[in-house]
Amino acid sequence: SRSPRLAPSILSCDFSRLGDELRAIQQGGADLVHVDVMDGLFVPNISFGLPILAAARRATDQYLDVHLMIEQPERYIDAFVQAGADGLTVHVEATRHLHRVVQQIRAHGRDAGVTLNPGTPLETLRPVLADVQRVLIMSVNPGFGGQAFIPSALDRIRAVRAWLDDVNPDAHLEVDGGVGPANIRALMDAGANEFVAGSSVFGADGPAEGLRRLREATQ
Ligand code: DX5
Ligand code: ZN
Repeated sequence: SRSPRLAPSILSCDFSRLGDELRAIQQGGADLVHVDVMDGLFVPNISFGLPILAAARRATDQYLDVHLMIEQPERYIDAFVQAGADGLTVHVEATRHLHRVVQQIRAHGRDAGVTLNPGTPLETLRPVLADVQRVLIMSVNPGFGGQAFIPSALDRIRAVRAWLDDVNPDAHLEVDGGVGPANIRALMDAGANEFVAGSSVFGADGPAEGLRRLREATQ
């Protein structure tokens, strides 16, 4: 299978040192930068929005993988593209027009991603699988970093992997929430190839060591 790609989530970084944190994860071998946008409606928390994404864009040339945990994401796709997103992932629960939002992202030439909460049936994303560059399986209920991994995500990754192998084998299959050295290998074996990690990267020992432990656990 493809080599694993590590996606540190800046939700867990020190925002007062965003530029330093972005340099540290790039030096530590991050493959993409995961950016968690929360609106306090779709999820019970507010994180940050356009100005912080634009600041990250100025500080790094790495791929910015933007996870929109916001209601009606179609209202803000153009603005997040302008602010520097390379990929935009939307929740199936947040829009009545999933297919249209995917086309909106593609019209900007950016990678379109779709995701869903742990309690949402996988069938809801099946109609757009052939049209996306990324499918994200949530392994926690979105809203906060540092939550415990929900084991049913493993079966959900296996199911989507099989669907993608049929209709869209080039799409990335990403997993987000509670990912660490103890489960990353099992997630790889289930068919994921992109791994979001917040607290396991920006922990007490710093991003270089966090990324090293994750990379080691994939081998
Ligand atoms: C959760 C976010 C995640 C979060 C992951 O709502 O979507 O990306 O930052 O954090 P950890 O890795 O600590 O579970
Ligand atoms: Zn996320």
